[in-house]
Amino acid sequence: MKNILFITSSLNGHQGQSTMLGETLVSNLAANKNANVIQRDLAADDLPHLSQSEIGAWMAEPNERTEEQVALAKTSDNLVEELKNSDTIVIGMPMYNFGVPSTFKTWVDRVARAGVTFRYTENGPEGLLENKKVIIVAARGGIYAGTEHDSQTQYLKDFFAFIGIKDVSFVYAEGLNMPGSETRLAAAQKELTEITL
Ligand SMILES: Cc1cc2nc3c(=O)[nH]c(=O)nc-3n(C[C@H](O)[C@H](O)[C@H](O)COP(=O)(O)O)c2cc1C
Repeated sequence: MKNILFITSSLNGHQGQSTMLGETLVSNLAANKNANVIQRDLAADDLPHLSQSEIGAWMAEPNERTEEQVALAKTSDNLVEELKNSDTIVIGMPMYNFGVPSTFKTWVDRVARAGVTFRYTENGPEGLLENKKVIIVAARGGIYAGTEHDSQTQYLKDFFAFIGIKDVSFVYAEGLNMPGSETRLAAAQKELTEITL
């Protein structure tokens, strides 16, 4: 059975286009493959900014951690475990101020772990996650895909490649705050129905 990790971070919750489109995709994929789905809503269950003490907890030898460090390390450990256990990661991704939501960045900061999801070799960094694919459903008020202003796409590709995931694809629902949004939304919805695992 396939495991799908569905990550959302829309401030609009279930009304967010990135959430709704992501839900459509996940239910299509799950119905076809009888997959197990775990949802992580980073807006509803937001994580604090990564702190020095949390990184300190990661660095401490597991059997030498204080009680506080054990609790601190658990947050990242759980997120990494969730990611490692998944085959496909579907991300409902709003664009906020040209980037990813800050809540999503707190997740990125906790799953990029030296010696766990990547390591440095003589040839540079090497991602340690294997055989995973990421599908990003990107909702945007304006239209940026394929232009030099879309730094969000490059950032996401770079980040996932860094931890070993090179199979990253995008479905864009753009211009959602512009006239003609219904047509563009319908095109994105149609594109989602054509994706299989
Ligand atoms: C705080 C904030 C910042 C935004 N920044 C951008 C932006 O930089 N570029 C853009 O195209 N749309 C921007 N938008 C519009 C959202 O990307 C758009 O409404 C999208 O549908 C949000 O995803 P959601 O519907 O899943 O919440 C912004 C919206 C908010 C609330």
